Amino acid sequence: NKHAILPSLVADHPGFHTATVKWVRHWNDRLFSFAVHRPASFRFRSGEFVMIGLPGAVGGKPVMRAYSIASPAYADELEFLSIKVPGGPLTQRLQAIRVDDQLYLGRKPTGTLVCDALLGGRRLWLLGTGTGLAPFLSLVRDAEVYERFSQVVLVHGVRRVSDLAWREELTAQLAGDPLVGDQALLQFHYLPAVTREPFHTAGRLTDLIADGRLFGPPVAGPRGFDAELDRVMLCGSMAMMRDVVPLLEAAGLDEGSNAAPGRYVIERAFVG
Ligand code: A2P
Repeated sequence: NKHAILPSLVADHPGFHTATVKWVRHWNDRLFSFAVHRPASFRFRSGEFVMIGLPGAVGGKPVMRAYSIASPAYADELEFLSIKVPGGPLTQRLQAIRVDDQLYLGRKPTGTLVCDALLGGRRLWLLGTGTGLAPFLSLVRDAEVYERFSQVVLVHGVRRVSDLAWREELTAQLAGDPLVGDQALLQFHYLPAVTREPFHTAGRLTDLIADGRLFGPPVAGPRGFDAELDRVMLCGSMAMMRDVVPLLEAAGLDEGSNAAPGRYVIERAFVG
């Protein structure tokens, strides 16, 4: 006696693509990942963000928020990472989406966490807290990153162990990835850190930078940021960026943009 639950469809909207949910994965009661099928005409650069959302009240505008795309630029699906905000205008509803439901997808992806906004270098540090992991999931699965940098270090700072989305895949250095698996095995390092539960690496990113735990094996090279070798992408809360940016500036790194590439780039992690 099966009760079929029909997918929730959205009405066409002139400003947005309509995209269909391909899969959903809940990490815990505060965090989930999902992917939509990529519309044929949708193009983006690895690391960019786009607006996604759901219809608003009857007669009202859709409720849209900016989300980093967690898939690499060549993928045929668009993956996202979202928190679940109790009572949040979008995430309260978004967390209930299921396969075959539809949502709105913006037409103009953009952002500064892209290879083009950085000067060439040897080590690429991807420093993310919370959902600030998302743009880096895109970049570490893009072969271009491994051509531009000899080492790619992803540091993910979270409150609880269960917030470490994709921990198994990242710990395995993306071993199963058909496109970048071989390069990642040699060039990619994943350093998870947890602040509010016991974990092998406990503390905030600022602590790991200050006490040198970020540097050293398996990461090769200087035990501190070096303006010649190191390039950094930062994504997380305003508070995190406010505390980390001075540490980068102190090492002589300057901020880059799409118009004028530099030695580090930042973007706030989006919340719903
Ligand atoms: P903490 O648990 O000490 O607040 P959030 O979910 O609030 O964005 O936090 C994600 C991670 O970022 C948490 O581990 C949190 O640590 C950490 N964090 C919060 N503020 C800062 C900051 N100013 N500098 C570095 N890390 C921070």
